[in-house]
Amino acid sequence: MGLTRNFLVSTATVLLALALAANACSPSDRAALLDFKAALNEPYLGIFNTWSGTDCCTNWYGVSCDPETKRVADIVLRGESEDPIFEKAGRSGYMTGSISPSICQLDRLTTLVVADWKDISGEIPACITSLPNLRILDLIGNKISGQIPADIGKLSRLTVLNLADNQISGSLPSSIVNLNSLMHLELSNNKLSGEIPSDIGKLSMMSRALLSRNQLTGPIPSSLASIYRLADLDLSMNQITGSIPDQFGSMPVLSTLNLDSNQLSGEIPTSLLANSGLNILNLSRNALEGNLPDVFGPKTYFTTIDLSYNNLRGSIPKSLSSAKYVGHLDLSHNHLCGPIPDGSPFDHLEASSFANNDCLCGMPLRTC
Ligand SMILES: *[C@@H]1O[C@H](CO)[C@@H](O)[C@H](O)[C@H]1NC(C)=O
Repeated sequence: MGLTRNFLVSTATVLLALALAANACSPSDRAALLDFKAALNEPYLGIFNTWSGTDCCTNWYGVSCDPETKRVADIVLRGESEDPIFEKAGRSGYMTGSISPSICQLDRLTTLVVADWKDISGEIPACITSLPNLRILDLIGNKISGQIPADIGKLSRLTVLNLADNQISGSLPSSIVNLNSLMHLELSNNKLSGEIPSDIGKLSMMSRALLSRNQLTGPIPSSLASIYRLADLDLSMNQITGSIPDQFGSMPVLSTLNLDSNQLSGEIPTSLLANSGLNILNLSRNALEGNLPDVFGPKTYFTTIDLSYNNLRGSIPKSLSSAKYVGHLDLSHNHLCGPIPDGSPFDHLEASSFANNDCLCGMPLRTC
């Protein structure tokens, strides 16, 4: 009886120990997570209340481990989320504090998402560039300041770098062009200054580069045009000068190009307007000049083409009426002259699309 009982107890102990070993996270990962938690304050949802006990791989909100190694692989904390915890609280996320450098102890980390918490401040820990497996770094929508770590280019596996909507200053580190796995670069709405590295075209995997609402200066690097996959380029609301590279007209998958509110000069490349893959083009509020080339045709498909507030001259090209589709067209505040062509898309546009030119006439403006 006693023997059987002892046997059962010890078996149970062994099973329990095995179960714990199967789930438990590494003590060093757990310690790093607790340091990370200690530097943040999330007062409304209580997500960090779940970060207790020894097994950080189970039921710690936003933490997941590699099933094989049991090492922490992902931290995903999103302040804008459909998770029931947000619905229950009836609010979006809010956090203060900063991102602790202890995060760098999580040396198997592949994903760090600490997004849209509004008030997390401090700097990006410089040691983050020593995380060799990091693939996703997404800190959008906080109040993070300081600079992008100078050796960011060491993160050779990084596919997503999203630091948009923060207060990051300084220039784009030259090493950024070494991020040879990078697909999404999102740095909009920060305080970045200086020039875009001229060899940014080395980022050959990049499909989306969003750098709007910063204080970037200098020219648009023509090397961007050599990025085969680049579909979405937004450099709007900076202080970029020079002309639009001719090579942009031959980019195979470019579909959105926003260069509005800069100081661009020169003519709009003919090939750009002839590029039938381009669907959204905003060049508004620059100092672009010259005539609008007559290069539109049955393959032209623009949901938006905004060329307002420039110094464009001459007449509206007739070929635009042969476009397959033009949704929103804005040619206002230029120096265009002559008759507005007949037919679509001109029959659904309002007078405001043509306002403040030198001498445009015809529907929807006054008759010629
Ligand atoms: C184009 O850019 C201008 C200036 O930045 C902005 O005001 C305008 O709304 C944009 N046009 C469209 C259609 O989004």
